[in-house]
Amino acid sequence: MLFDLSNDKSVNETYKLMAQTIIPRPIAWVVTEDEGVVNIAPFSYFIGLSSDPASVLISVGHKSDGTPKDTLLNIRKHQKCTICMVEEKDLEKMHLSSKSLEHDESEAAFFDIETVYMKEEFPPVIASTPVSYFCEFNQEIDLGGGTTIPLVLSVKEIYVKDEVITDKEKLLISFAPVARIGKSYAFLGEEIVPPVIP
Ligand SMILES: Cc1cc2nc3c(=O)[nH]c(=O)nc-3n(C[C@H](O)[C@H](O)[C@H](O)COP(=O)(O)O)c2cc1C
Repeated sequence: MLFDLSNDKSVNETYKLMAQTIIPRPIAWVVTEDEGVVNIAPFSYFIGLSSDPASVLISVGHKSDGTPKDTLLNIRKHQKCTICMVEEKDLEKMHLSSKSLEHDESEAAFFDIETVYMKEEFPPVIASTPVSYFCEFNQEIDLGGGTTIPLVLSVKEIYVKDEVITDKEKLLISFAPVARIGKSYAFLGEEIVPPVIP
């Protein structure tokens, strides 16, 4: 079956096609802040763009009433966010935190998600997360239409919990991440070490 994406009615269908075929997708658990309110939301249109300069991308849409999601609003206003990686044990809390609350309501308080301030000038990290990226807004990408805004974020510092560093000298890191598959989730299965390329 061939799907023509030029049809305006097909946005929902396009999401279904892409979300079930670009898999598995990593999840950015994004923490932002505005006037003392800590906002938390997951984003699976998330990808590492470059290690030099360290950069990631998240694509953030709008609420059903057409206003920008709080994450987009807060990043535009304060130019900062903290991205937390999601471990298996946090799957439920991460999923719940996708609920759209009023701008002055915090998902951290509503869902009892513990956060800790690690760096004064950045939003807090989620206490249970193994890895956090402290990011500054770099640029928005104009896709020439639609309501989703890709944001390029410059990664300024990365925090890795000591417990997940398995070899300090070789800088080996191991934790149990959650991936997005369509509207479901998956855990990683077997890890395969590639053969040496002659
Ligand atoms: C696992 C998961 C991944 C999601 N990925 C995205 C995404 O990539 N882009 C997006 O706009 N919304 C995504 N959402 C929906 C947002 O999390 C949701 O709209 C949230 O309410 C936004 O919160 P905010 O208004 O506090 O920013 C995702 C939801 C879940 C559960």
